[in-house]
This record gives sequence, structure tokens and C-alpha cells, in this order.
Amino acid sequence: GATLLIDTYGRVATDLRVSLTDRCNLRCTYCMPEEGLQWLAKPDLLSDDEIVRLIRIAVTVLGVTEVRFTGGEPLLRPGLVSLVERCAALEPRPRMSLTTNGIGLERTAAALKAAGLDRVNVSLDTLRPDVFKTLTRRDRHKDVLNGLRAAREAGLTPVKVNSVLMPGLNDDEAPDLLAWAVENDYELRFIEQMPLDAQHGWKRDGMITAGDILTSLRTRFTLTGEDDGERGSAPAERWRVDGGPHRVGVIASVTRPFCRACDRTRLTADGQVRTCLFAREETDLRGALRAGAPDEEIAAVWKRAMWGKKAGSGLDDPSFLQPDRPMSAIGG
Ligand code: GTP
Ligand code: 5AD
Ligand code: SF4
Repeated sequence: GATLLIDTYGRVATDLRVSLTDRCNLRCTYCMPEEGLQWLAKPDLLSDDEIVRLIRIAVTVLGVTEVRFTGGEPLLRPGLVSLVERCAALEPRPRMSLTTNGIGLERTAAALKAAGLDRVNVSLDTLRPDVFKTLTRRDRHKDVLNGLRAAREAGLTPVKVNSVLMPGLNDDEAPDLLAWAVENDYELRFIEQMPLDAQHGWKRDGMITAGDILTSLRTRFTLTGEDDGERGSAPAERWRVDGGPHRVGVIASVTRPFCRACDRTRLTADGQVRTCLFAREETDLRGALRAGAPDEEIAAVWKRAMWGKKAGSGLDDPSFLQPDRPMSAIGG
């Protein structure tokens, strides 16, 4: 039979998220402090060859069909275009996407498309340059807008935009963001803030919930549900906007968790398998790689790791503990 990344709850991981670096050129307040973090040392990062080998094993042995490159900020990885090209040459060819803050995308979108990237998700929390600067602590709003346009023009579509709303900063912007996304043909998704920040500053009472977001959107738009079953394992619940072709999504990891349908496995930039964003354990693949383990052994270690995947994030347990590593190191 096929070798799949299955867990004890019967879920099968076919979606691999690969973090290419823990570094970032922004400093979003819900993610990391102004001074940045203690970055991984170069020798600790997987090399391009090691990444391609792990993705090859995932795709050819373990049944992975979707590969998403994340960070930190994956466009900071020098070899990204050639990595995509090498993965596009795998048989079977995985679908490939990128989650990025958009800075530098203006320069690289066409090359990424030509290399075989299918689509991108770009993070943008505000339409106001001054709020962008406060939220990300960098004055790069224009670069993100240019990156988004370049992605659409290069055909990295559908281009999705991820927005996190922060109380008192941009929580009044949901309808404006949606009007802008519809106008520009981006698929907007709002993400509930999760306790994955390096500063451990997340508070449940402080966060903007899916309910708040929908209430705010409905002051200006009519949202209708999509057909049952269309969501599949996607974290976003989607609504049709004003009966038209455009949709808006909400990723409600906190108030409406989707762990039962989770189909993800993750690889950190230093070669650790994580079964979940919120997992407290990691399984070392880099060690096995560097010790010369054959493909079958690496696949077996990966399978064993996924077998230990927990039922859910544990966010609702009174004993919930934030994972040791922040989102930027895990890969979003
Ligand atoms: P597509 O819908 O396939 O485009 O991708 P996606 O929404 O899964 O990817 P993206 O990287 O854009 O992630 C959007 C948000 O969903 C981020 O905030 C992620 O952290 C969150 N997310 C992604 N995977 C998971 C997961 O396994 N669990 C939880 N709770 N959140 C996730
Ligand atoms: N909670 C929710 N979303 C987050 N992101 C980064 N940190 C958090 C957090 N603590 C978002 C980014 C990006 C996506 C990959 O995750 O804004 O859009
Ligand atoms: Fe960078 Fe993404 Fe973290 Fe913002 S959320 S600082 S873009 S890694």
C-alpha cells in the first residue's frame, strides 16, 4: 500500500509547509520585537540540496501533493527561484505556493512564475501607509502594493491577501480592505491573531474574533455562505461578497478551529518536522540527513513523527502553553 503521513486520528498530511528562513525584513508587532530575534546560524539551516531532497521524499514516497514555502520571509532566501525550479521538476510535480510579506515580489514574481510557482499569499494588514509603519515598524507599504500587483500580473493567481486585525490599530479597516481586494481582484482572508508571537503578548480578550470581523464586514457587504463541502481542509471559511464572484475568507484558528480536517505537515528552516503550529515537540530530520540516512529511513522518521500528531492545537485547554518557538521560526 501507499506510504502516507497518517496520524492516529485518521488524518493524512498531503500539504507540506517548508520554512526557508526564520529571518524577516518586517517587525510586525503581533510576531516579533523591534530588535528582531536570535536568528538561526547559517550552518543550522537546511541547504538547498537538503530541502530539495526532503521535498522529493515527501512527494515521491509520502504522498505530499502541495508544497508551500514560508518563513520568516521566504523571499529573503537567495536560492528561492532555483529551489522552485528544482521542485517543479519532481515527479509527480507538487502544486507550489508561497506565503510572503510581498517585499521584493515586484522584482521576482515573473521569475518565480517561470520557475513553476503556482500562486502566492501576501500579508497586508492595512491600506494606510502610516498604520503599516506602526504595525510592521518599517515604511514599506508601497513595496507590498507593488509586489501584489506584480504577482497578479505574473499570473501567480489567485493572489490571496492575509490580514490580521489588531485592536486600536486597524480593526476599523475590514470593509475598506474588502472593497479594495474586490476592486483589485485579490482574495482577502482575515486571520485571527494567534498566541505565536515571540513576545508572548497575546491575550484572548484582546483579539478581534471571526464574529467581530463578520459583523464589521456586514455593515457594508452582503455575505452569503458557499456550498457545503467546498472548504475541504482549507483553514479559511469563505463567503461570497454581494452575490458576486468575489469571496472573502476568515481563518478562525482560535474561535472556530479546523484541526479535525488538518492535512498539514511542517518543516522548519533547520530541518525539524512539526506536526502542528502549536506542537511542543519537533522531530529532527536534519540529523538523519547529515548522518547519511537513506530515503526510506528519513521517510520512516517523518511518518513516525506524524503518527504522534495531537488532536488539536490545545488552545482551549486551561493548561495551554505557547510553543517554545515563535511563528516566524516555525513557518506560518
Ligand atoms: P491556502 O488557503 O492554500 O492558500 O493556504 P493557507 O491559508 O493555508 O496558507 P497561508 O500561509 O496563507 O496561511 C494563512 C494563515 O493560516 C496563517 O496565519 C497561518 O498561520 C494559518 N495556518 C496555516 N496553517 C495552519 C494550521 O495548520 N493551523 C492553524 N491553526 N493555522 C494555520
Ligand atoms: N497570529 C495570526 N497570524 C499571524 N501571522 C503572523 N503572526 C501571526 C499571529 N500571531 C500571519 C502573517 C501572515 C500569515 C502567514 O500569518 O500576517 O499573513
Ligand atoms: Fe515577518 Fe511575517 Fe512575522 Fe510580519 S508576520 S514580522 S511579515 S514573519
